[in-house]
Amino acid sequence: MPTSDEELLDAADRVRTHAWAPYSGFRVGAAVEASDGRIFTGCNVENASYPVTLCAERGAVSAAIAAGATRLVRVAVSTEAAHPVAPCGACRQVLAEFGPEMTVLSRAAGQIARWRLDDLLPERFVLERSPDHDEDPS
Ligand code: THU
Repeated sequence: MPTSDEELLDAADRVRTHAWAPYSGFRVGAAVEASDGRIFTGCNVENASYPVTLCAERGAVSAAIAAGATRLVRVAVSTEAAHPVAPCGACRQVLAEFGPEMTVLSRAAGQIARWRLDDLLPERFVLERSPDHDEDPS
C-alpha cells in the first residue's frame, strides 16, 4: 500500500515528540519517503553551542542515506507553529541532492501546505569541476 500524504505527515508528527529543542522551544519532525517506499524520520537536535543544531529534515535525510535509500520523493514536516513552515535554505539544498523534484508537505495548526522542492529552491548549487580538475591529488 503506498503511503498517503496524511500517513507521512503523521510519521513527522510522531517523531517531533522526540525533538531536542530546549533553546528555541520550536520542535520539528520530518519524514522522508524513498523511491522504494521506505520512510525515514528525523527531529531537530539543538545544542548549547547554538550553530551546531541539526534540523529535522537533515536528520531524516541522514537516516535514509545510512540505510542506502538515496532517491527521495517526498518529505513531510511537522511543527507546532501557527502556520505550516517551509524547510530552511540549508535543508532545501540537502533535500535537493537526493530528489530535486520531490514534493514538500508541511503541517501545523491543522493546515497543510504543499510545494515542489524545485519551486522552493530554483537553481540549486551543483558542483561542476573544471575539466582539468585532478581527481587524485597524490
Ligand atoms: N529547524 C528545523 O528543524 N528545520 C527547519 O527547516 C528550520 C528550523 C529547527 C532548528 C532549530 O532547532 C529550530 O527549528 C528553530 O530554528
